[in-house]
Amino acid sequence: MSTRITGIAELVTNDPAHAHHADPGDRLGVVHDAVLVVEDGHVAFAGPAADAPSASSDDLAVDVAGRSVIPGFVDSHNHLVFAGDRTEEFAARMSGQSYSAGGIRTTMNATRAATDAQLEANLVHLVDQARRQGTTTLEIKTGYGLTVSDELRGLEIIARHTSEATLLAAHIFPPEYEDDPDGYVDLIVEEIIPRADAAKWIDVFCDRGAFTLKQTERILTAGKTAGLLPRVHANQLDHGDGLQFAARTGCASADHATHATDEDLAALADAGTVATLLPGAEFSTRAVYPDARRFVAAGVHLALATDCNPGSSFTNSMPFCLAVAVRDMHFTPAQALHAATAGGARALRRTDVGHLAPGARADFAILDAPSYVQLMYRPGVPLVQRVFVAGEEAH
Ligand code: NIG
Ligand code: FE
Repeated sequence: MSTRITGIAELVTNDPAHAHHADPGDRLGVVHDAVLVVEDGHVAFAGPAADAPSASSDDLAVDVAGRSVIPGFVDSHNHLVFAGDRTEEFAARMSGQSYSAGGIRTTMNATRAATDAQLEANLVHLVDQARRQGTTTLEIKTGYGLTVSDELRGLEIIARHTSEATLLAAHIFPPEYEDDPDGYVDLIVEEIIPRADAAKWIDVFCDRGAFTLKQTERILTAGKTAGLLPRVHANQLDHGDGLQFAARTGCASADHATHATDEDLAALADAGTVATLLPGAEFSTRAVYPDARRFVAAGVHLALATDCNPGSSFTNSMPFCLAVAVRDMHFTPAQALHAATAGGARALRRTDVGHLAPGARADFAILDAPSYVQLMYRPGVPLVQRVFVAGEEAH
């Protein structure tokens, strides 16, 4: 059986076949007066109504009456295995205190004390919330357990809900290893990575006050040997070598990139490493936003993600992040939507999501708006009306 979505005022495909060649910057492949046909969970047709295959009587027909349809968001950076929250820390920050990654330990204590069922229920709640806001693919990291068993149970929980599971045992140094940081790196390399079968990715927080370049290299090398793919948190808190390291070592993505030099950007562009910008983190830590125009001028591939976590960015709303990215990071609305869909897919090395070309997984959102630009023009308004994952409506 197929589903036929008609009455689409604006269909964003991210398909080069529909890009407007008059505008070389346009990669959204917008089709006006469009039809989308879904068969067996995949896109069978996405294009002008005039070219659509004829309807059959057993099609499920959905008339969206002049609305916009966009690819589902690919949120490629989330930390959702945790317990508790840090409301007071946020309030203190908004009253003048500065952000310190040391707050991660508050969440670590609550996470270690939680049962598997509590951790999973919290994750499911956050994934459902994200879904209702248009997110159809999520990457999820560990990183608040920081023991062998807590990191491994985190991975198992994640793997029950997404194929994009990331081991971030190298988030901070747990108190037990305060005076022996390299001992913790040994633990990650010798005890955790060899048992991290449930993970696809290995990630390290490479920054001032977190893991050094040398430690990052050891962990990512061990991860790669075990078949995991590398990505990093780099240059969130300060300038450092993390971005160039990510480019040099074949990371799919370097995330945050709040502090980036021209040399860093050139290296990312040359390597084809995605820079994943996380506007929620600058928002919630009152940091200075990176300027997307510099990344675009340097030819760097961009993704946008929420960085949903209880400390530095407790939002799982991609529409919120898009609005901030446009207002404060100087993405154009088109660049922001591309980064939040096709960009996220690239950051996760996925070719089946992030676009609506024939053959893609039928992940899409129907907006209560005639144009995706309203996601940024009407911030905070619940414009994501219906969400479909692999052709099935999510509730
Ligand atoms: O991505 N940068 C490191 N980790 C998180 C923050 C985690 C926390 O504060 O709990 C981030 O922003
Ligand atoms: Fe993060």
